[in-house]
Amino acid sequence: MCGIVGYIGDGGARKIIIDGLKRLEYRGYDSAGIALLSEGRIKLRKAAGRIANLEKILENAPVDGHAGIGHTRWATHGAPSDENAHPHTNGDGSIAIVHNGIIENYQELKEWLVREHGITFRSETDSEVVAHLIGVFYKGNLLDAVYDAAAKMRGAYAISAVAAAEPDRIVALRKDAPLIAGIGDGCNFLASDIPALLKYVRTIYLIENNETVLVTQDGITIFNERREKVKRDVFHVSWDADAAEKDGYDHFMLKEIFEQPKGIFETLNRRLDADGRVRLDGISLTKQDLEKIDRVYIVACGTAYHAGLVGKYAIEKFVRIPVEVDVASEFRYREPFVNEKTLLICISQSGETLDTLAALREARAKGARILSVVNVVGSSVARESDDVFYTWAGPEIAVASTKAFTTQLACLYLIALYMGSATGVLPEGEYRRILDELNALPGKLEALLADERTIREVAKKIYKKEQIFFIGRGTDASVALEGSLKLKEISYINSFAIAAGELKHGTIALIEQDTLVVVLATQDRLFEKLLSNIEEVKARGAYVIALAKEGNRKIEKQADDVFYIPACADEVTPVLGVVPLQLLAYHIAKLRGCDIDKPKNLAKSVTVE
Ligand code: F6R
Repeated sequence: MCGIVGYIGDGGARKIIIDGLKRLEYRGYDSAGIALLSEGRIKLRKAAGRIANLEKILENAPVDGHAGIGHTRWATHGAPSDENAHPHTNGDGSIAIVHNGIIENYQELKEWLVREHGITFRSETDSEVVAHLIGVFYKGNLLDAVYDAAAKMRGAYAISAVAAAEPDRIVALRKDAPLIAGIGDGCNFLASDIPALLKYVRTIYLIENNETVLVTQDGITIFNERREKVKRDVFHVSWDADAAEKDGYDHFMLKEIFEQPKGIFETLNRRLDADGRVRLDGISLTKQDLEKIDRVYIVACGTAYHAGLVGKYAIEKFVRIPVEVDVASEFRYREPFVNEKTLLICISQSGETLDTLAALREARAKGARILSVVNVVGSSVARESDDVFYTWAGPEIAVASTKAFTTQLACLYLIALYMGSATGVLPEGEYRRILDELNALPGKLEALLADERTIREVAKKIYKKEQIFFIGRGTDASVALEGSLKLKEISYINSFAIAAGELKHGTIALIEQDTLVVVLATQDRLFEKLLSNIEEVKARGAYVIALAKEGNRKIEKQADDVFYIPACADEVTPVLGVVPLQLLAYHIAKLRGCDIDKPKNLAKSVTVE
């Protein structure tokens, strides 16, 4: 996910493009850049970091123009750096492009450009290929060159290009990544998303897949794949800028909860080939490497730690190797048995959590091999690991982590499947069974999210409670911890999670009349045990909300309210089971009037010990 903005008019392009990029920072924020057309030249400024860094550069070395393109980046190929920031140019700087998405065959195209045209690349991005391709095909008509370049590229992307020799136009192309064009008065615009333009225009064209747009000061022309002009009705935007950024959701947290089907789909899709084998692409964990490993540690913090707890179940079950999971801040100080035979899996959304990073460094110094599960490309954890398994959640803005958790789970299942299959421990039939279950998850998540109303109704009954318990067994105990954390961090309710079997060893003393207990009973093999736990707490007067798998209706006789998740194998219930708990926390916090996206005392990235 990246953000693109383009403008062409009488002048002042710099301010308009920077304004637009700021409204798109939610799409990515690791570097930004701008290419301005002025006096027959392309003037480029770009910088790693937030848009504020780019603004500082523009203050020190001011440029402006009548037209230009800008970009805010969410790194996919190559770390966030000045060189990898967009716009990218061709060799002599006469063509500049910005790009959102992925050019799947960029390696092949890069080799061709080097071999046939002697081109030297300056960045590690797939995007730079686009600038050189357009440059190679450019014969005085940017539109022609963009069509010729697009014919060679595979992937899902949107690009926008300018040429120094044609300062009167911007050309853009959409292929499975969002693009809109805004109709101004004596000027026109391009952007990845509506919020970028709302300060300036409210009348736009929604560009469709495989369409190319030619934007001049006087007009916008849309062409289809066959280069025929397309007639498009205009779209009038009535929402305010804040609502548009959140795609109409009230909060980023809710938007991100609803993005989980896509996140899981992307995370699986990037790592599975057509035969359903896990593709390691760049990760060097061969059968020989795995044979040397006798122990796995998973270290992480908070939500990522809870994902690690589920990962332990998957790896121990599919690979039959001992796995220890530790919170990173503890791991460092307890002299763990780490050596060259250890595989350390670090899990981190931000990749910047200091505790996790310190644990990684500690283990590395003792010879462990480091495999990380990270969302932010080029982050410190990613850079310091031997191998990285990226989650494809896209930028997570809300402080409370949701889509990072479920995509971390997807990665851990894939790692476990790969290891189980490579070592020959996991029979092929089992591999296929789990793979089918994983591939069915995006659809099941969609179905689950469609029933949000039921959760909202239950939240209305309980939002005034000041204490809530979560209990579960097996992986449900790990999901209970995550449900409890979500609730406490955004609603400030005192919540507590415990393995259901452990309740009777002390904590049950706190259960009394009307105490609220959320019982996770999503696994068939443990279902009867949880029914007994419900009996235990009901006998002491508890109000029980249960989470169960569709079909296990017997639970309705005991629980006061029940949420169902779609039927699935016990191994993958955490991906579905956590969603009603995320929604429950969200709706309770909303009813309590809390600042959901920015809860008190918390930060999105914890870079202190
Ligand atoms: C909870 C939450 C935190 C993070 C933790 C680790 O919603 O977001 O518990 O999970 O601070 O952060 P990362 O994953 O960035 O290392």
